[in-house]
Amino acid sequence: MSPTKRRGAGALGSGPRGLDEPAGDAQRPLTVAVTGPTGTFGSGLVPLLQDDDRIGRVIGIARRPFDPAERGWTKMEYRQGDVRDPEALRTAFDGADVVVHLAFMITGNASRETTRSINVDGTLNVFGAAATVGADRFVYASSVAAYGFHADNPERIDEEWPTRPAARLFYAQEKAELEELLADQARRHPEIALFLLRPPVVLGPHAVGGKDVLPGPLAPLGRMLFRRPRRLPVPVPLFVPELPMQFIHEEDVGRALVQCILGAGPPGAYNIAGDGILTAADVAREFGALPIPLPAAPALAAARALSRLPFLPPVAEWVEAASRPAIMDTTKARDKLGWKPRYSGLEALRDTLADRRAT
Ligand SMILES: NC(=O)c1ccc[n+]([C@@H]2O[C@H](COP(=O)([O-])OP(=O)(O)OC[C@H]3O[C@@H](n4cnc5c(N)ncnc54)[C@H](OP(=O)(O)O)[C@@H]3O)[C@@H](O)[C@H]2O)c1
Repeated sequence: MSPTKRRGAGALGSGPRGLDEPAGDAQRPLTVAVTGPTGTFGSGLVPLLQDDDRIGRVIGIARRPFDPAERGWTKMEYRQGDVRDPEALRTAFDGADVVVHLAFMITGNASRETTRSINVDGTLNVFGAAATVGADRFVYASSVAAYGFHADNPERIDEEWPTRPAARLFYAQEKAELEELLADQARRHPEIALFLLRPPVVLGPHAVGGKDVLPGPLAPLGRMLFRRPRRLPVPVPLFVPELPMQFIHEEDVGRALVQCILGAGPPGAYNIAGDGILTAADVAREFGALPIPLPAAPALAAARALSRLPFLPPVAEWVEAASRPAIMDTTKARDKLGWKPRYSGLEALRDTLADRRAT
């Protein structure tokens, strides 16, 4: 353990603990470092850490200026920094018992090199810094996309099924590659327990999170325009394929992250998703459209054909994610991690579209 650690012995070593269990008197509150706390996942996680007596201190690190007090996150010390800067990470993580790595470029609006240096090199930097400061656990937000969109994927994917790079989508390729790289790092550093969560699309009041929907100088405008998805002002007829999909609420992701932070189950990978499977028509209906359902097969075939086109810009590569349904089995997270979602997929979608001006 690093000499910089400030907690007492036994803070982590007492076996599984549930989200709703009170902190034991003998337990010393944990220090948790979070990269990318200002995005969708951070918005689900940090309020839970704020309200949890087992967590004493939260360190947040991301690139843009941010005042945690504005959100009432009084436990958080925020440092402006970049995951491409290993020294900044080591300094920020001083005293961390657990490192939660959420910083990532999802939309691919930057160059391929920049995206890769943040996503792949940055993740390895974060793991390296966690090892240097002597963190006991490393918690990483992977994705259902790590399974790839392969013809032989089962109808319900469980954690026994291998993660394999997608054919085109940079994001899914990096997620699969990172799971392997992190597993390799964990073998070299058996003193750190590695937890991976694999959620589907995350919804909730902060669904857009820190993502840049528009590229370059237009990014601030994009953040302003798309900060909150809204219902259509008038019903519009829309042809939509009957594609099955899972969603999860940001708060349920936060609760799964907390279970990993506490080491409530064995290290490893966990699928998580809200209950229920929705179709694209269900989603269109919630957005206020009048869906005209189409059979899924032609749409899947079209998505597969499109995703094979040469010279697709990174943002268009996302069509591959629609080329095969990827539905996960979440039994392991329920049985081993003591997690279960409070929101169904439909409730998560409705909470995303809820008009909070009225409340
Ligand atoms: N949202 C989803 O639907 C979803 C689904 C499955 C998995 N995931 C995974 O969950 C993780 C978190 O996703 P999210 O939706 O919360 O992302 P997000 O909303 O885009 O937030 C990304 C966060 O990372 C920070 N960040 C980006 N680049 C950084 C850098 N170079 N150095 C330091 N901080 C940086 C951002 O702040 P700054 O821009 O200020 O740096 C922001 O705080 C990602 O790994 C993502 O792949 C997300």
